[in-house]
Amino acid sequence: MNYEPRNLLVTGGAGFIGANFVRHWLRKRGDCRVIVFDALTYAGNLDNLSGLERDPRFLFVKGDICDEAAVHGLLEAQRIDTLVHFAAESHVDRSILGPDDFIRTNVVGTHALLKAAKSAWIDRKLVPAHRFHHVSTDEVFGSLRPEDPAFHESTPYAPNSPYSATKAASDHLVRAYRETYGLDTTVTNCSNNYGPYQFPEKLIPLIIINILSGKPLPVYGDGRQVRDWLHVEDHCRGIELALLCGQAGEVYNFGGNSETTNIEIVRTLCTLADERMAERSDLWALYPAAPGAQGKRALDLITHVRDRPGHDRRYAINFAKAQRDLGYSPARNLEQGLRSTLDWYLTQTSWWQSLLGRDYAAWMQKNYSRPG
Ligand code: NAD
Ligand code: DAU
Repeated sequence: MNYEPRNLLVTGGAGFIGANFVRHWLRKRGDCRVIVFDALTYAGNLDNLSGLERDPRFLFVKGDICDEAAVHGLLEAQRIDTLVHFAAESHVDRSILGPDDFIRTNVVGTHALLKAAKSAWIDRKLVPAHRFHHVSTDEVFGSLRPEDPAFHESTPYAPNSPYSATKAASDHLVRAYRETYGLDTTVTNCSNNYGPYQFPEKLIPLIIINILSGKPLPVYGDGRQVRDWLHVEDHCRGIELALLCGQAGEVYNFGGNSETTNIEIVRTLCTLADERMAERSDLWALYPAAPGAQGKRALDLITHVRDRPGHDRRYAINFAKAQRDLGYSPARNLEQGLRSTLDWYLTQTSWWQSLLGRDYAAWMQKNYSRPG
């Protein structure tokens, strides 16, 4: 290991990947303090961090990454030497309905963080060593045809959605702060994550919850779009490696070796959910609307709906560089990962049901009642 953070700031640490990362880090690394900085938008949830408030190494601060003065104050007051930047508007469908929040948080917010980091770490030299790690996405590379090779770190950028365009812009800003001001940066571009604490607007938790609730399972278009699914815990391990062993100024891709069509993902979840219901009659009372509790098949809930505009057809990741330079490789296979994720949602009913009571239900009603 080359680099040892002492005081780590995690932006967006109350979101899906951020919360998993904070838990992973506190489990794995001894005496480093972790300060989560999060605006608690619809996607941020303090329940994702519950239990950690008892850990003396953990602190939560509510705030907006666009507030450069607040970020600078925090870097100084907490003697932050390392920043892992997850905070973002992250859902492609929302970016299509309204790009403005994406420009603000993903572009302006990332730039505010970079300015604060430069001021604290380069101009005022408040700590002896620093690192700014930016968490990005494979979506910046655009869409692949079936015969195309997987994305690698020098694949030209070709973002197709407002979301991916703002992530691409933020990647370029991070690069510019490295090249121009000498900020110590690392960037990782990752494929689709799944696992515990994922907000149920994303495909896998949405499908699980709809099966358990006996609701239609919306598949966009023909469902033949391909994603490379990665369990969130494998992603967190990758970020830890990039932070500790990555070279300043470098970019690393992370993938899951699990290219799969959306329709296959949905069918697999249907099969796994039916199997669980058949094995465990105690679940029938908890989820009476689930097909498995009524002697029916979850597969019959699949409903093809109008496709997402500009829908990327295929993502695939070549992670040979991360494997060679960081020792990264995904540990979980997709079926194991889907099984454990389904089991997590089966047991964490109150976590997701409290979200259904927030704006989720109304948003789903408005945006997903559109069979094709
Ligand atoms: P998420 O939507 O679950 O969480 C985002 C978090 O950021 C929330 O806690 C939210 O409250 C916070 N946030 C939003 N705007 C903020 C602001 N202005 N100031 C402070 N906090 C703010 O997202 P996620 O799925 O956990 O993704 C985390 C990061 O990883 C994002 O940058 C995303 O682009 C990237 N990424 C995600 C995936 C994936 O599959 N989910 C894959 C690759 C990369
Ligand atoms: O590739 C990494 C990206 O993965 C991240 O950068 C994004 O933050 C993250 O949201 C995710 O983007 P996707 O658009 O790929 O994820 P989503 O879960 O929204 O959709 C996955 C696929 O499933 C996509 O092809 C669209 C499709 N889909 C999605 C939903 C919500 C459906 O068919 N039906 C649905 O209801």
